[in-house]
Amino acid sequence: MGRRTLIVGNWKMNGLIETAQEFADAILTGLSARAGRFVQCEVVICPPATALYVLNQRLGGSSVKLGGQNISEHESGPHTGEICGIMLRNVGCRFVILGHSERRATCGEDNETVGRKMAAAFRDGLQPIVCVGESLEERDLGRTLEVVEGQIEALIPYLPVHAAKRPLLVLAYEPVWAIGTGRNATPEQIQEVHGFIRQRLEGELGADAQKIRILYGGSVKGTNARSILALKDVDGGLIGGASLKAADFLAIIDAVPEKF
Ligand code: 13P
Repeated sequence: MGRRTLIVGNWKMNGLIETAQEFADAILTGLSARAGRFVQCEVVICPPATALYVLNQRLGGSSVKLGGQNISEHESGPHTGEICGIMLRNVGCRFVILGHSERRATCGEDNETVGRKMAAAFRDGLQPIVCVGESLEERDLGRTLEVVEGQIEALIPYLPVHAAKRPLLVLAYEPVWAIGTGRNATPEQIQEVHGFIRQRLEGELGADAQKIRILYGGSVKGTNARSILALKDVDGGLIGGASLKAADFLAIIDAVPEKF
């Protein structure tokens, strides 16, 4: 359907200025050697906020884009410790990851909070990458689709009124039990949930659902990326551990299949 593959690196709480600079140099060198392949996919790095400025200095003007890992739902004001969307834009961000399971689990972010943050991202001109996914317990209880459906439905009231903006939404299916564990969801499990998400989006948004990219995340590496990225409703990857070293991240970009 012409959805451009999106490969996003989520560094989580890793990376100092020096390592970020080294990564930027290595990724630019690696990508320039792969010019043809790079055209097929969009590449985004989401470092900790403290490394954004220096990465923007190094990567600004290149085709590698930047994203944050969270924003406040507020525009500005007395919210100590928070960062708003405009601040991320100010250091070159185009994207922001929202509702990551690590934040849902430890920062009290529920579906409503994530919806409000998504609305804030659209308001502030950022493309939200909203994470959804079930815990191991929920999967074992056969509740995977129900949980994911609840997470998606909560977003609907917060989508932009302007229909033209809606396809800018990016979703990421990250089964909690596959994150950082080396344990992979099978291609069948992944396609089942991605197909279900697409179907639910279609019910709400009609034809626009075909334009929304759905990423998979959870122990994606160079060695398993090809079979995952080739799945019908998988439009890219949200990569944790394997995005910290340029060589590992480039191996995933090398695995992007030609879908169109
Ligand atoms: P890993 O790739 O380390 O499993 O992390 C996935 C993730 O949580 C990306 O947001």
